[in-house]
Amino acid sequence: MPDHFQLLATDTAGGTAARRGRLRTRHGVIETPIFMPVGTQGTVKAVTPAQLREIGAQIILGNTYHLNLRPTSELIRDLGGLHTFMGWDGPILTDSGGFQVFSLAKLRDIREDGIAFQSHVDGAKLFLGPREVMAIQQNLGSDIAMVIDECPPWPCERDACARAVGRSLRWAKQCRDIAADSGFLAAGHHVFAIAQGSTFDDLRREAAESLAALDFPGYAVGGVSVGEPEPEMLKQVGATTPFLPADKPRYTMGLGTPPQMLKMIALGVDMFDCVMPTRVARNGLAFTPDGPINLRNEKYRADPRPICEGLDNYTARFSRAYLRHLATTNEMLGGTLLSMHNLHFFLDLMAQARAHIEAGDYAGWHRAWIARYEAGAA
Ligand code: GUN
Repeated sequence: MPDHFQLLATDTAGGTAARRGRLRTRHGVIETPIFMPVGTQGTVKAVTPAQLREIGAQIILGNTYHLNLRPTSELIRDLGGLHTFMGWDGPILTDSGGFQVFSLAKLRDIREDGIAFQSHVDGAKLFLGPREVMAIQQNLGSDIAMVIDECPPWPCERDACARAVGRSLRWAKQCRDIAADSGFLAAGHHVFAIAQGSTFDDLRREAAESLAALDFPGYAVGGVSVGEPEPEMLKQVGATTPFLPADKPRYTMGLGTPPQMLKMIALGVDMFDCVMPTRVARNGLAFTPDGPINLRNEKYRADPRPICEGLDNYTARFSRAYLRHLATTNEMLGGTLLSMHNLHFFLDLMAQARAHIEAGDYAGWHRAWIARYEAGAA
């Protein structure tokens, strides 16, 4: 699908590679840079689709591995696809499942044709290869389907990493061919490739260039957020993005904190996802421009102020004292209100980033934003 991505501006002032883009999907247009709330099991935990719309979510994530185990992709297909099933009519990106097999499943066996594993739910023997993950994502009706990849652990030996890069490349090509032959691409669904390469700059470059030659609708940087320190993570992203096509969207998988996202935007990344804002919300943590605050802390017991100024959403009508009360009594509403706040904080940060890229002052703005955040968090 040509013209699905428009690069509206690149802000190179101050030495960044920050990009402002527009990605068209079957379920609507996404303004980039963008953060994508994670809905692994067909729900962004504790937040309704109407609330997601209210806080400005443009696209959410689902997961092949989980949804195929329960309730199965065939059932979701028979009930009209994932959008209908979960009541979200905006774009959905689905991860392909390979990464989750590595982190969740027992007894994995990586073969040339895919990964054999045992379900973490009931021990059933299962298999995911290019054919399987593309069939599942077609059943789900994903707007953006990810290829199956092999994500090497961190740290990783060079030989093992080179094998993972080679296998991921062959799998990516097979996924792309299946999507082309089945009409999935022609129908306007996108398939994104994933560049691996761990800490080896030359393997990252090789992965990016080989995948770029296959002309995917978009590209992800994989194999980050696997336990490596932040400088290493940023180095790996920086070793990949220059070799990805400038006219296609770029996505780092599973990242990151607000400062990390801003630093990756400066490296030319357009899309992010992370479970962290909703996960920590359920533990009473809320993001502010002066760093995260833990609302379970005694010092908020009688604090009448909202979590932070300038974020206009439903949660903003409640005091820190009330939100602390909900968090310390483990009330479900606490998880909902803090998840909405945190997601809105991430989405609003991306809106600010977009505006500053358009204004041509991203470099200075993002440095000042991070300095304030880190000073408050210290
Ligand atoms: N989620 C976070 N990292 C990765 C990765 O490297 N590959 C896939 N498929 N999903 C991820």
